Amino acid sequence: MEIYRGEMAAELGDVMKGFVDLALGFYEGLKERPVFSEADEETVARLRGRGIPESGRPLREVFEEMMRDVYANQSLVQHPRCFACVPSPVSLYSWMGDVMTNAFDPHAGSWINASGAGCVEQEVIRWMCGLAGYPEGSGGLFVSGGSMANLTALTAARDRKLTYEERDRAVAYVSEQTHSSVAKGLHIIGFRPDQVRKVPTDREFRMDMKALRQAVAEDLSAGRKPFAVIATAGTTNTGSIDPLEDIGALCREYGLWMHVDGAYGASVLVSKKYRGRLKGIELSDSLSWDAHKWLMQTYGCSAVLVRDVSSLARCFAVHPEYLKDASVGEGEVNFWDLGPELTRPARSLKLWMTLQVMGTDALGQVIDHGCHLAKTAENAIRSLPGWEIISPAAQAIVNFRFAPAGVPERELDALNQEISRAISAGGFAQVLTTELNGKKVLRICALNPETTDGDIRKTVELLDRLARRFQGRASA
Ligand SMILES: Cc1ncc(COP(=O)(O)O)c(C=O)c1O
Repeated sequence: MEIYRGEMAAELGDVMKGFVDLALGFYEGLKERPVFSEADEETVARLRGRGIPESGRPLREVFEEMMRDVYANQSLVQHPRCFACVPSPVSLYSWMGDVMTNAFDPHAGSWINASGAGCVEQEVIRWMCGLAGYPEGSGGLFVSGGSMANLTALTAARDRKLTYEERDRAVAYVSEQTHSSVAKGLHIIGFRPDQVRKVPTDREFRMDMKALRQAVAEDLSAGRKPFAVIATAGTTNTGSIDPLEDIGALCREYGLWMHVDGAYGASVLVSKKYRGRLKGIELSDSLSWDAHKWLMQTYGCSAVLVRDVSSLARCFAVHPEYLKDASVGEGEVNFWDLGPELTRPARSLKLWMTLQVMGTDALGQVIDHGCHLAKTAENAIRSLPGWEIISPAAQAIVNFRFAPAGVPERELDALNQEISRAISAGGFAQVLTTELNGKKVLRICALNPETTDGDIRKTVELLDRLARRFQGRASA
């Protein structure tokens, strides 16, 4: 069977040419599209009714169906008015790099299979380690996302700090604001829920140092084995940064592993203006850093960095007989020895391409712009009566709620939830909720360089209009 030549390949070439124009048109017209679109019943029935055919169908037909039924029904995380979760503005260079990588499909597990890709990945990792202030001997690799980066780093922490016998009484420290992927990772690598200590946070949602110190002391005196503190540089809820220098000092004092979850916030290191906010990150033993959040990459692009690369090798390197031909020389690396995956895509090529074309100054400006947008949102909200700021602009995030005088506290959660649902369903902007201090709040996370101050102000005005409408209805 011919799979790379002949009629099939000719048809594909034809469809692909049109696809490039369609995709570029999609990005160009993004702002005019609704931020969110969900597959209707008819579409779901059509997709389910298709089944998997025994005989294939024409490519163009399948392509057009996918465009209509699949890609048209999603939350547009790259939209300039997507303020939900952690949005993912995408550089067109990342998209192109992804397409190129998929086209040539290098096996980036080993040097022998993809030395060019391996070399690029080493360079990108070196750049990131440099920004983190890590010393010679540091390293890391690209994984699919922040959850996998946390899991990989925590495995290294466990194997560096604990013997098999000690695992049963080991304790790791997170804060009330730590991302859920950390507890999930600790669970996957064998720790019970009671081995994860949730340290309270202060008024700015940062890990409370006094409480952390006390928890470590109590665990030690009870014969338990503290082994790791997980700090966050840019929490998902509020963007707050834990006291990294203090946590670093405590970890050194007690011989604990310091992991920083910078999945969202480590990108602030690229900003000359704001990188000082992450002072203390250089004390950490490991760092998670998602490029598919604030470095404009398409999904599946996250780095896990360690100050001593041998911490990864000692828990992930394996040498079965069928991999012996792939042994490495001086300066080379087999990334399959540094993480859980054997076969792995070359995730860093698109980031390298973006960095080469845009340069780090432009990416730094993207970070600065996000911080500016959150402040713009905060100011706009503060200027309106009846609104409360729950956590002020931190990195690119601000939390707030509509809490006008006269509406009882017990009704406020439902009111704010309704505002969020209505703005998102309307398609102009997506603003979701979270919970802080036991209250349902609205949250704006603004990372997109194409978002303007006008977009922010119009979104806040719309939130206010919806709020007044629902308030009126509630009190009617
Ligand atoms: C601080 C933080 N850590 C980890 C994650 C998980 O990252 P991913 O969704 O890429 O697995 C997120 C996701 O938003 C996050 O904000």
